[in-house]
Amino acid sequence: MASDTTAGTATGVLSLVQPHLLELLGYAPIEPTDVLAERLGIAPDDIVKLDGNENPYGPSPGTVQALAAFRDYHRYPDPQQRALRTALSEYTGVGAAHVVAGAGSDELIDLLLRAVVGPGDGVIECPPTFGMYGFSTRVAGGRIVSVPRTDGYALDVDGIAAAASDAKAIFVASPNNPTGNPLAAGDLEALLATGLLVVIDEAYVEFSGGSVAHLVPQRENLVVLRTFSKWAALAGLRAGYGIMPQALAELLMQMKPPYTPNIAAEVAMLASLDDRELLMERVEAIVTERKRLSDALAVLETMTLYPSAANFVFARLHNGDGAATHARLARQGVFVRYFDSDGLRDCLRFSAGTPEQTDRLLDALRLPASAAG
Ligand SMILES: Cc1ncc(COP(=O)(O)O)c(C=O)c1O
Repeated sequence: MASDTTAGTATGVLSLVQPHLLELLGYAPIEPTDVLAERLGIAPDDIVKLDGNENPYGPSPGTVQALAAFRDYHRYPDPQQRALRTALSEYTGVGAAHVVAGAGSDELIDLLLRAVVGPGDGVIECPPTFGMYGFSTRVAGGRIVSVPRTDGYALDVDGIAAAASDAKAIFVASPNNPTGNPLAAGDLEALLATGLLVVIDEAYVEFSGGSVAHLVPQRENLVVLRTFSKWAALAGLRAGYGIMPQALAELLMQMKPPYTPNIAAEVAMLASLDDRELLMERVEAIVTERKRLSDALAVLETMTLYPSAANFVFARLHNGDGAATHARLARQGVFVRYFDSDGLRDCLRFSAGTPEQTDRLLDALRLPASAAG
């Protein structure tokens, strides 16, 4: 029996599926290096991959060693995450009872939404922002209440307050992806005053400072999400965590699949915390490259740059040549993220890389279009 969803009528196996899932558009992920290299017919090592806000340095040597030396991959990880929660508590300064680790902060986003969202419940997001809030809301059967950011990508706190009665939670990334700006002073109090579950996603906070995690034990409706994907270069292992009111942490520990993060991610997270001094030196190097890249791009005068506190630079191109610039860079093996949706018309996001990668990007940008094809 063939399956079909034509004209909204599901047949075959899809007739058994939750109707709201048939309308999902899916998440637009980035493509892996080997796929890009094969498409271009060049070696993977020649690809400059600045489209995923990944850490170009890879895991710390201590982490690689710990993964190689570990002997218990045949065992399930501790479902109570005891060692991990203790280490994360020491790293964040917030009690272990507030901490839940997961398979990337993506898993925490999904768990939180499944915990609070019932069919048709509203979740506020403030676009342009990270796509997983909308994606996971829709998977959970919820409804996105969109309160777009204002000029300069600040939060519209009045708009959020007005929309709050139609929602159960709000998700805000700080610094925001893709625009790079952190939560403005005073905005957090306005968000908390709505009484919604306020989720502050600090995926990039090691690059910016200014975490609000220490406030979690004093607030009933504040959750902070963190990840090892960016500062500790563990994106491929899926290693994230949330800091939340103890009662919510207990609930998530009850409802989550018992063995996430997997044991390799656990080993790597613990080793990365031991190696944090070296990893933070690399974070500093990435911040230095972000500044160098911003300064160099500002001179090009073909784009408007927005101040970024994260590991990337965000720009709006003039003259509608975002797509052409993106394609021109790609032909030279340099991959950056191109956006052309409402609020993100003709925009590019450049992840900060190594000094050599910045040089390759700048060289590629300065080439006249006719020389690059
Ligand atoms: C704002 C934000 N939150 C979360 C994530 C995903 O984090 P993780 O890799 O821990 O799932 C990203 C990844 O780019 C992000 O930009």
